[in-house]
Amino acid sequence: MNKVLFSSISKKIVMALAGLFLLTFLPVHLIINLMLLKNDPLPFNEAAHFMATFPLVKIMEIVLIGAILVHISWGIFLQIQNWLARPIGYVSGNKSETSFFSRFMIWTGATILTFLILHFFNFYFIKIGLVKGNPEDFYSVAHNLFKVPAYNYIYLTCFVLLGFHLYHAFSSAFQTLGLNHRIWTPVVKTVALIYAIVLPAGFASISISLWLFR
Ligand code: HEM
Repeated sequence: MNKVLFSSISKKIVMALAGLFLLTFLPVHLIINLMLLKNDPLPFNEAAHFMATFPLVKIMEIVLIGAILVHISWGIFLQIQNWLARPIGYVSGNKSETSFFSRFMIWTGATILTFLILHFFNFYFIKIGLVKGNPEDFYSVAHNLFKVPAYNYIYLTCFVLLGFHLYHAFSSAFQTLGLNHRIWTPVVKTVALIYAIVLPAGFASISISLWLFR
């Protein structure tokens, strides 16, 4: 029993660390993507070229894909374990705001996974040569993609769900790592809320601008 509990906790910790790493990727990704709003394709294409060729970034990309895979597979594993453990379930059993969001984590997470598969077909697989397209001109790839209304509907829906996922993920990662504090926990929650609104809103602004204002 102790062994099972310990391995679940260590999986949660690995998941939280991978999740925190993913949280640092998104602001970088957003800042680069905001260059898509410029009328000149050069700055974005140069940034994308740098990201695709600079050795340190290439290493970080492998770490990133690894973190995504670990985070997803451990998340699914722990959720299944949690379902199988019912009706005993979690010891705390509280129906707080946190447990409201946490109950939907698997579904918001599944939506982000589906989004990522589509997103990889749209961009990343072009970069690694699995899908036809010009990796030196992601500016045009993105501009053409967001001309299609269906992609905007899908992307925008996913950004909303991403916000829900990020809000809970941010605060719960700190909790999992045992960083609970009377003063700091409310601060973390506020930062989580700001992060979970600003990041998806930033991505949505790109989708909406390229769709309706170009
Ligand atoms: C308007 C929104 C977005 C646009 C225009 C966009 C664009 C791109 C582009 C052009 C690439 C391939 C080139 C590159 O590596 O820089 C890419 C890769 C990637 N995107 Fe996005 N993205 C958006 C939102 C997101 C979101 C919300 C996530 C995560 C939930 C995400 C996750 C990734 C990942 C994991 C990769 C592959 C890793 C990488 O190549 O660095 N993207 N995206």
